[in-house]
Amino acid sequence: MDGNGRWATERGKPRVFGHVAGVQSVRAVVTECARLGLGSLTLYAFSVENWKRPPAEVRYLMRLLRAYLRRALKTLMENGVRLRCIGRLHDLPEKTLAELRRTEAKTQHNQGLVLRLALSYGGRSEIADAVRRFGEDVQAGRAHPSEVDEETLRRYLYDPETPDPDLIIRTAGEMRMSNFLLWQLSYSEFYVSPVGWPDFREEALHAAFHDYAARERRYGLVPGADASAASE
Ligand code: IPE
Ligand code: MG
Repeated sequence: MDGNGRWATERGKPRVFGHVAGVQSVRAVVTECARLGLGSLTLYAFSVENWKRPPAEVRYLMRLLRAYLRRALKTLMENGVRLRCIGRLHDLPEKTLAELRRTEAKTQHNQGLVLRLALSYGGRSEIADAVRRFGEDVQAGRAHPSEVDEETLRRYLYDPETPDPDLIIRTAGEMRMSNFLLWQLSYSEFYVSPVGWPDFREEALHAAFHDYAARERRYGLVPGADASAASE
């Protein structure tokens, strides 16, 4: 979700104005993904790098997240959405983390879309944290280095159930990954929308899905080969 600040600046407003408008896009996109029957949606809400923003903006974003969670609970329940969080969650303010845990608990039995919020998240941090935890298990005699393969490492990621994304959408025109889901994105399709996040609503989402639907995914195989063979 990118472009909140620019969206606000273009309108002669402070950056936080863009974050407030961005919350409406979160509501719209989450509800639409649930309605369309998607299994998983991960929103990159706050990166490990974002802590270096001015403290007032960081505080505002954390407050906004708490307010979103409190207000969204009803809609999440109505739409069968299960909330999970990934990232260095212990770095979040206590009150924010408490609200996240509460929402995770309340939505844990929902059967529809799994909404993952990436918070204090970095793809490299995720891999480093996984390796550290694996090392701890080795030290404690619960694991052995010879076990390391892709599937074992995946089990140490923040949420091992995070599927490899079919599609990564970046808003506001930027053509970079910015440390998002580095482990999981090996074969993800990438789509860049010129639309800033506060304007990214159903229409822009549908445009991304239409673009994705026209692609041929080859997973390193030759054209026309059955892509499902890639996982065999
Ligand atoms: C994304 O918008 C929102 C968060 C990181 C929470 P930005 O705040 O990065 O907006 P720009 O990139 O400055 O326009
Ligand atoms: Mg940005």
